[in-house]
Amino acid sequence: MTIFVTGAGGFIGYSASKALLGRGEEVVGIDNLSEYYPAQLKLDRLADLTTKFGDRFTFDRADFANSDELDQVVRKYQFDRIVHLGAQPGVRYSIENPLAYAQSNIVGHLNMLEVARRRDCSHFVYASSSSVYGANADLPFRVEDRADHPLSLYAATKRADELMSESYAHLYRLPQTGLRFFTVYGPWGRPDMAVWLFTKAILEGTPIAIFGEGDMRRDFTFIDDIVGGLVAALDNPPSDDSLLKAGGSVAPHRLYNIGNNKSEELTRLVHLIEGACGRTAKRNVLPMQAGDVRDTFADISAIQADLGFTPTTSLDEGIPKFVEWYRGYANS
Ligand SMILES: NC(=O)c1ccc[n+]([C@@H]2O[C@H](COP(=O)([O-])OP(=O)(O)OC[C@H]3O[C@@H](n4cnc5c(N)ncnc54)[C@H](O)[C@@H]3O)[C@@H](O)[C@H]2O)c1
Repeated sequence: MTIFVTGAGGFIGYSASKALLGRGEEVVGIDNLSEYYPAQLKLDRLADLTTKFGDRFTFDRADFANSDELDQVVRKYQFDRIVHLGAQPGVRYSIENPLAYAQSNIVGHLNMLEVARRRDCSHFVYASSSSVYGANADLPFRVEDRADHPLSLYAATKRADELMSESYAHLYRLPQTGLRFFTVYGPWGRPDMAVWLFTKAILEGTPIAIFGEGDMRRDFTFIDDIVGGLVAALDNPPSDDSLLKAGGSVAPHRLYNIGNNKSEELTRLVHLIEGACGRTAKRNVLPMQAGDVRDTFADISAIQADLGFTPTTSLDEGIPKFVEWYRGYANS
């Protein structure tokens, strides 16, 4: 039956929709085409889905933080699974614009849980984030670790989503999977993130801003690996059997890290992008920014054990794929 995907115009929502459509599913996508970054990129992604998959993909522009608007859309369709990937992302933007996060990430998540509850959905899969680990110093981050010290409001809203989901799993026995994504990159990626920003600047010959003196580390995860883990999770909803699930719930709710399981320094990322672009970066080395976590590193043993998930794209392979796509898209 049809899958309802929120944030379908976004990087991961588009990529997940493409994979689901590619294996023959029907997808209804919604997105409010927020201007956090240029909506034209979102429209281009949606056009790509429509061109490739025709009427198996349906799109409505709607704001899921507005329950009336959301109701008007959902009542038009039959679906029994939800992949909730729409959100206000970005750690740094949350320092200046906290209310956008309260709307899309807290009110919006609750509205989507209500849709899932009223529809008696068989599985609700949603995006969380590695940022929930906040100030945790023990690496790699494990889903069993406490996540009580967010360093940004963005991280706090993502953790709040997990807690609201837990209450719905307990009260209404709604089967759910929360996915803590680790720094996702790849074709059709996000223009506010380092991989895109560095590639653009290096190709244009403008300086790149390297925060944290370049020795911050990230577990960069290629989009195809993220989508592989997401689809595997979607296909295997947690059972309502009172047994302990990944992340510590005994309700039908589990949490997984999806990362590459390798933490890499920003300086290595820059080096790989330089190689793929065939140009040298002009570096502007700056201190860490407020809200940023110094290092991220995903322990993926839970999703590996339950679903057999293993990432297959190294940063060395993924960066040239992104740069090639970027040059075609930006015509540069
Ligand atoms: N990309 C990453 O590295 C990363 C890492 C961790 C977590 N995440 C999470 O994964 C999810 C997808 O992220 P992404 O990278 O694809 O971001 P994205 O910004 O490309 O996609 C999110 C989409 O949601 C839409 N949206 C926002 N608020 C909405 C609302 N109120 N109603 C309808 N649509 C709305 C936006 O217009 C956008 O197209 C988000 O929940 C994000 O927080 C992403």
